[in-house]
Amino acid sequence: MEIYTGNRMLCVVNLDGEIYAMDNSCPHWGGPLGRGVVENGKLRCPWHQWEFDPRTGATPRNPGVIVPTYKVKFEGDDVYVELGPCTPREARTAHAPERRCLAVSSQVSETDSAND
Ligand code: FES
Repeated sequence: MEIYTGNRMLCVVNLDGEIYAMDNSCPHWGGPLGRGVVENGKLRCPWHQWEFDPRTGATPRNPGVIVPTYKVKFEGDDVYVELGPCTPREARTAHAPERRCLAVSSQVSETDSAND
């Protein structure tokens, strides 16, 4: 499934009950990975069927190409995607967190998958 964070689109995948997050833009031609299909442990891009491992972002089509992935953490019933260090612009604000986390639990349910 696709999740819009306000400044970027993420692809969130439910792979056999484990949640993974990666960039939504396919490195081939920019297809929306969050609209792809999960099959045999791989996420298939809907545009030209390149397959990606949601755990690593790797694709057998090109070993040099990896979709950025993000750490997902769980706190109670809440799910967060850790987006990494804040940008320099964010760091200039008074209350910028050291690392940004996006709460996605309201958008991810146990029945969601990339092909929903
Ligand atoms: S855009 Fe994803 S496979 Fe071509």
